[in-house]
Order: sequence, then C-alpha cells, then structure tokens
Amino acid sequence: MAGYLVAQIHEHVARPRDDLTTYLINAELHGQKLDPMHVVGTMMLLLIAGIDTTWSAIGASLWHLAKTPADRERLVAEPGLLPTAIEEFLRAYAPVTMARLVKQDMHWNGVDMKADDWILLSFPAANRDLAQFERADEVLIDRELNRHAAFGLGIHRCVGSHLARLELRVALEVWLERIPAFDLADPAAVTWAAGQVRGPRALPLRIL
Ligand code: HEM
Repeated sequence: MAGYLVAQIHEHVARPRDDLTTYLINAELHGQKLDPMHVVGTMMLLLIAGIDTTWSAIGASLWHLAKTPADRERLVAEPGLLPTAIEEFLRAYAPVTMARLVKQDMHWNGVDMKADDWILLSFPAANRDLAQFERADEVLIDRELNRHAAFGLGIHRCVGSHLARLELRVALEVWLERIPAFDLADPAAVTWAAGQVRGPRALPLRIL
C-alpha cells in the first residue's frame, strides 16, 4: 500500500489537482511542509481507519437487530428513528479502543503509570458508565440523551465520524427496506474480533 501511495504522491507532485492528496502535499505544519512519509502515513490511516471500524459497527447493529425482533420491527415501521438508533448502537457496541503512551510517571485514580507505558482508553467501557447514562447496560433505540464516546474525545476525535454515520445510516436503511425480517441462523456460529476494533466477523443470518 505504501508503494502505491508513494507513486500517487510523485504523480500528484508532477500534476497537482484539486484533491486530498494535493492538499496534504501542500499542507504546512509549524511553517513547514509535511515530510512525504507523513503524507503517506496520513493517507494510509485515512484508508484503514474507515474499513474495519464501519464494518464492525454495521455488523454489530445487524447482530442486535437479528436477535431483537421488537427493535427490528420498530425500525422497519419507523425509519425516522434510525439516526437515534444508530447513536445507541454506536454507544452500546462501540467498536474502537485506542492506546496512548504515558508521557511521565504519574499516579491517577489509584493507578500507577510509568513513562512509556502503553495504556488503553476503553471508549466502549466509558459508554457503559452508570454515572453518565441511565440504564447504561440496556440498548434503548430511542435514547435521546446520548453523549457517547464511540468516536473518541479531544484532539484525536475521529475525523471520519460524519462519513461513518452516513455509511451506517445508508447501510441499515437499505438493508431494512430490502430485508425487513431476519434472525440469527445459528447464534453459536457468530464470531467476534476482539482487541482494538471489535465487531462480528462471522454473522450467519436467516432471511424470514
Ligand atoms: C463507526 C465507525 C468509526 C468509529 C467507531 C471510529 C472511531 C474512532 C476513534 C475512537 C478514534 C480515536 C480517537 C482518539 O484517539 O482519541 C478515531 C480516530 C480516527 N478515525 Fe475513526 N472511527 C470510525 C470511522 C472512521 C472513518 C469512516 C474514517 C475515515 C474515512 C475514520 C478516520 C479516522 C482517523 C483518520 C482517525 C485519527 C484521528 C487523529 O488521530 O487525529 N474513522 N476513530
């Protein structure tokens, strides 16, 4: 992939155009142009960050609807509720957990952390915080107050969140229009990817 992107960068340096690659080549950080490998890294991240995240979120939503007929039937009858339901699927089945490197030794909330330790920011756990969400462990597709952290928080918050929400909405809208009735063909056969991007990887469904 890096080889392909480097060739793209050479091609765009020779023939600039109105697109993201040319934008990144011309971008400046602290008064300096980005190193070409920084441009490659950014393009690679943009590509990869939008793949297993969205398929995990779509997969988890379909898994929920396959095993919860009342929610599935309600969304078929009330498609206007989809954007609200999608936020709830993102909260309850948040696929992404990110890591950070500790900068200096510190003691926080009873935990010792050493410089250069890796720590995980569990956004999925934050989304089940009882101090933030009423009935945090229940999936309520009409939950109105829903300030979840599925897209992270702060300076690195997901740059693709609007595209991700659009993909989820289109996928579920079209799915429910065409396949309004389905369930799990074999619940025991469902497998999940664990780790930093969590979601179903095998999800055999039965169309009813
Ligand atoms: C449901 C789908 C998605 C989820 C749940 C998700 C979640 C996240 C999370 C939790 C972060 C990290 C925030 C942090 O480190 O504090 C992140 C960062 C990022 N996401 Fe997404 N994401 C999704 C889809 C996408 C899509 C579709 C794209 C691009 C097309 C994308 C591009 C990125 C990029 C480039 C970053 C890094 C931002 C930075 O470090 O400044 N994501 N995402």
